[in-house]
Amino acid sequence: MVCELQNIVKTYPSPDGAERLIILDGVSLALDKGESVAIVGPSGSGKSTLLHIAAGLDLPDSGEVFIDGRDISKMGEKEIAALRNRKIGVVFQRHCLLPQCTLLENVLVPTLPYQNKNEKAVSRQRAAGILDRLGLSDRLNHFPSQLSGGECQRGALARALVNRPSLLCADEPTGSLDMGTAEEMGRLLRDINREEGTALLLVTHSEKLAAQMDRTLELRNGKLNDESI
Ligand SMILES: Nc1ncnc2c1ncn2[C@@H]1O[C@H](COP(=O)(O)OP(=O)(O)O)[C@@H](O)[C@H]1O
Ligand SMILES: [Mg+2]
Repeated sequence: MVCELQNIVKTYPSPDGAERLIILDGVSLALDKGESVAIVGPSGSGKSTLLHIAAGLDLPDSGEVFIDGRDISKMGEKEIAALRNRKIGVVFQRHCLLPQCTLLENVLVPTLPYQNKNEKAVSRQRAAGILDRLGLSDRLNHFPSQLSGGECQRGALARALVNRPSLLCADEPTGSLDMGTAEEMGRLLRDINREEGTALLLVTHSEKLAAQMDRTLELRNGKLNDESI
């Protein structure tokens, strides 16, 4: 399994601190290599929380998280960060590209920890290749302010994919795009998932996009349910 969550519980303190609100109430989920899963559910149901935990960006109160078979609760912060950088790509609703860097430089950021001379050339080739695949080959030297919203979001996808992760987590990646651009982005996510065998965990409000995934699961009242039931 690329990503396995077992009986995840996550709580947050209520605003007055008087009690703890249960956001995830024993959630289990397993994603195999190349599989795609859509998470849907009402706003505030905990979709982002779940995605952050699956991506190793946040830790549960209890339950186990395995990434590529390794239990991250047994790792230190540095080890988790290194695993995340190598194995997990993340795309958010907002692209979060660095404004002072060109598109190509932005995509190369996750490769920086591995820069010896040889790897530098390989990384550049990979970055240019993935940008080309996403239709951005003539935008390499543009700064984010010189790109459209859809181009920035595709750039963020390229950055997430540059280290060939085994898992791609995407949190409403089409949420801030217009309909046509959103559809294009959705299609690219699904195509990349198939072409590269990257497991895809996708939070979306779009029924159309969710329907393109292998499975759709609904998060409601802290539980994850198969939508088809
Ligand atoms: N850091 C936090 N502290 C307290 N409550 C939080 C925090 N992050 C999220 N929450 C609460 O957890 C619930 C789930 O949030 P979230 O995972 O962002 O939901 P979704 O992505 O489904 O809209 C919400 O009620 C939100 O207010
Ligand atoms: Mg959210």
